[in-house]
Amino acid sequence: MPVLLDWDTRFFGFPVARLEAQELAPAELSDCLEWARERGVRCIYVLREQDDTISAAALSAIGSQSIDERSTYTAVLRADVPHPSAGIRIAQALDVPRLKEIAAVAYTDARFFVDTRFDPERSAALYMTWIERSVHGGADLVLVEGPLGAPRASASVHFLPDRAQIGLVSVAPEARGQGLARALLLGLMEATIQRGLTRMDVVTQGRNLAARKLYESLGFHLTRVQCWHHLWLDQAH
Ligand SMILES: CC(C)(COP(=O)(O)OP(=O)(O)OC[C@H]1O[C@@H](n2cnc3c(N)ncnc32)[C@H](O)[C@@H]1OP(=O)(O)O)[C@@H](O)C(=O)NCCC(=O)NCCS
Repeated sequence: MPVLLDWDTRFFGFPVARLEAQELAPAELSDCLEWARERGVRCIYVLREQDDTISAAALSAIGSQSIDERSTYTAVLRADVPHPSAGIRIAQALDVPRLKEIAAVAYTDARFFVDTRFDPERSAALYMTWIERSVHGGADLVLVEGPLGAPRASASVHFLPDRAQIGLVSVAPEARGQGLARALLLGLMEATIQRGLTRMDVVTQGRNLAARKLYESLGFHLTRVQCWHHLWLDQAH
């Protein structure tokens, strides 16, 4: 069955739920929709493995196509990762306003922007909130490039027991193509090795060619592809 998402429900202002689909049969899907209707849920995020053709068929039968390929890239870090160039530093509270401006326009490949049923202003606010929280302790480390109060790029990471998980990576539109994301990621890789971890994961969208090329150029390999579906309950299913 789906689970209600409290944070998303509060943030978007209507009930949202999430379902991890595994070989989802049509009857099970119909039960999930019933469960959601009873609770006034307006949207269910469904996540399935790309090769789960059973779930794909059940979803397709109710007219739902995937809206995003959730692509996980993994790197096994070597101890001799190159030292990042100068100009990389830890984010400070004073950087937050500019980082929020950058975040507001950076993530247009994300499923919340692609699905036009979500208000684009709320979707931008989601990433603004995320970077602000990350700097204030939500992430274990946020690195930035650029002067205090006027950073041009940022990248965040969480250190888990067995790996580092990259969070947000964004570069101001006018500063792209200058190696800033590469430098920030090298900084995160160095910090990961210093923590005694050798595995690093990052999730991006299948349609985000720039991000995929960036991670591949740093030795990451595609290790998992999942598909997001958005089921809107006020549409006929
Ligand atoms: C993806 C992003 C972070 C790249 O930042 P950037 O500072 O421009 O990237 P860099 O200059 O460090 O590029 C490093 C490598 O990434 C790849 N790359 C970066 N931008 C690319 C693009 N537009 N097309 C193809 N490859 C690209 C290249 O391999 C590049 O190496 P090269 O310059 O030697 O060819 C930036 O475009 C961005 O902020 N996008 C919006 C936010 C986003 O998508 N973040 C990732 C979500 S997980």
